[in-house]
Amino acid sequence: MKFETLQRVGEKLRLIDQTRLPGDIVYNDYDDYHEIIKAIQRLEVRGAPAIGIAAAYALAVGVVQTGQYEIKQIEAIGRTIKDARPTAVNLAWAIDRVLSRLKQETPGSLDAVLKLLWDEAEIIHEEDRLMCTRIGEHGASLINAGDAILTHCNAGALATGGIGTALGVIYACHYQGKNISVYADETRPLLQGARLTSWELMQEGIDVTLICDSMAAVLMTEGRINHVVVGADRIAKNGDTANKIGTYGLAVHAKYHNVPFYVAAPSSTFDEFIETGRGIPVEQRAAEEITEGFGHRTAPDNVQTFSPAFDITPNELVSAFITDTGIRPGGRGR
Ligand code: MRU
Repeated sequence: MKFETLQRVGEKLRLIDQTRLPGDIVYNDYDDYHEIIKAIQRLEVRGAPAIGIAAAYALAVGVVQTGQYEIKQIEAIGRTIKDARPTAVNLAWAIDRVLSRLKQETPGSLDAVLKLLWDEAEIIHEEDRLMCTRIGEHGASLINAGDAILTHCNAGALATGGIGTALGVIYACHYQGKNISVYADETRPLLQGARLTSWELMQEGIDVTLICDSMAAVLMTEGRINHVVVGADRIAKNGDTANKIGTYGLAVHAKYHNVPFYVAAPSSTFDEFIETGRGIPVEQRAAEEITEGFGHRTAPDNVQTFSPAFDITPNELVSAFITDTGIRPGGRGR
């Protein structure tokens, strides 16, 4: 990739500011974990795996910043970071994983604690990179040369530590010379598809066509989509999947038009503690994100709004899950 989504730089975390893309390529360095939390909340870094990695680095930054290295103090920093966004399980998963290693190894000095924290954050980062590559390889086996793939939001390199999940499948096909093409939903209201997915695919020379979200059904009815591939923020034990708002509608369209619907996600996105999608907390976003899209007022003052960031696609609409360990059948694929 021609950009770095997240990077450790000394005792700081460097993020590409995704709110500025595609117009400006700006990197910000963070040495304050509260500022990293704000960066997660304003979607400067976003996407389930990427916010998990950022959370792990934020814990190390927090200990450098405060100099506090008792387990109780580190747990308190971890709780604050976990509260940044509620839906993606990767965030809590990453913090819990670092804390669990800390409790096992009980390092006795500030230096030793910091060494462990940076080390575990880097391992999580590297593992995510590898999981993306494997997801890509497994997913590519489902796609034929010349196929057209529709994707929603951004589940690419900008959302992970590697080549992405849904876009990982697309990159793998591209590297294998399969000559695929991509339709990218713009993804209202924050336009991750328009601003991020189309940008990163174009960087790699992939044939991408941007569409408004409402155009997907027409493309399917015309037979122009062979597969839908999306990412996930959290997958419940029964396969119900939280992903960017609009995913559920896409899955309904795909079933109606008999187009396979795939969810691509790493092991860290499967929540072993939540039985069904009903248990997944869905983040509500500020009204301004739909009334003042990117600075322009586009709705009457004081209009009522409803703005969930994610929806839940029932397992029965999922043809298969593409994971780092292989392909698992979804409810629609059985
Ligand atoms: O609000 P966002 O941009 O963080 O939402 C991101 C998504 O919904 C992605 O599809 C999901 O996190 C998977 S990223 C590999």
